[in-house]
Amino acid sequence: MDVQVPVVRPRRLRTTPAVRRLVAETRLHPAELILPLFVREGITQPVPIGAMPGVVQHTRDTLRKAAVQAAEAGVGGLMLFGIPEVQDAIGSEGTNPDGILQQAIRDVVAEVGDQLVVMSDLCLDEYTDHGHCGVLAADGTVDNDATLVRYAEMAVVQAEAGVHMVGPSGMMDGQIAVVRDALDAAGFQDTAVLAYTAKYASAFFGPFREAVGSSLRGDRKSYQQDPANAREALRELELDLAEGADLVMVKPAMAYLDILRQVADVSPVPVVAYQVSGEYSMVEAAAANGWIDRERTIMETLTSIRRAGANQVLTYWAVEAAAMLRG
Ligand code: PBG
Repeated sequence: MDVQVPVVRPRRLRTTPAVRRLVAETRLHPAELILPLFVREGITQPVPIGAMPGVVQHTRDTLRKAAVQAAEAGVGGLMLFGIPEVQDAIGSEGTNPDGILQQAIRDVVAEVGDQLVVMSDLCLDEYTDHGHCGVLAADGTVDNDATLVRYAEMAVVQAEAGVHMVGPSGMMDGQIAVVRDALDAAGFQDTAVLAYTAKYASAFFGPFREAVGSSLRGDRKSYQQDPANAREALRELELDLAEGADLVMVKPAMAYLDILRQVADVSPVPVVAYQVSGEYSMVEAAAANGWIDRERTIMETLTSIRRAGANQVLTYWAVEAAAMLRG
């Protein structure tokens, strides 16, 4: 049978590794990867996180070593999460100047602070016994404005510990303005704010709960966004920009690439995506079963997140991906 011979042949640009390399639109670089790290108070050995094979809760000592390893790999930043020994209703350890996160910030800044950007999670869920990202009102709901007071205090103790960038992740209304104002009032004009701008009430955060030893009563649907909605992400973006966000984030990443694209299309500041715990665990689980090619999948997910518009990506694979990129 005679078929019409194509005149246009897109395959020409896919024929060899050299031409594919030449025309690749999206490139990954270790400098735009950010590694989340967990540090736990009162342990003498790192504790593996069952739901996140390969990720551990660090001691202060192993955290320092992990930070050095990340810096040597060329990773651009670290996001630190603290796990205190004691949790209470208001998350007191989050504002203790000698709390685990503040100690870890000092350690890591001293060790690698001149080589990469040190960031810290600014949220109460690691510190509260009820597991919510804020303090509770008498009726058990999360009290937005009372929480803002706690965030302002947290921002200052983290900045005093020397962190370069704080990451308010609690999705309270007005949190960026309050954090910016508190930092400025305390003389930390140069401490940047990475706003968790569009953060969804997501099942993909599941493994993170084990990672930070948080047992959540109820859910976060009254403050994190509904996965059904896109418009409110743009509203949150407008607010965070007006309130002084230096960078904005979309989280999770892979199930929200459309949100990432919409935010990236209009954001005048860098757009960060967080490839969260559940995204990590899914790939690790499938790879452990031999169902997918682990390394290819890792690089494909990161490439897709960058292609959708992220400038920087938080990923638990940051060090390994950086090594793969250097080939
Ligand atoms: C809040 C916070 C969470 C994550 C990062 N910051 C948990 C949540 O909002 O429920 C999740 C990160 C991940 O799942 O990898 N402190």
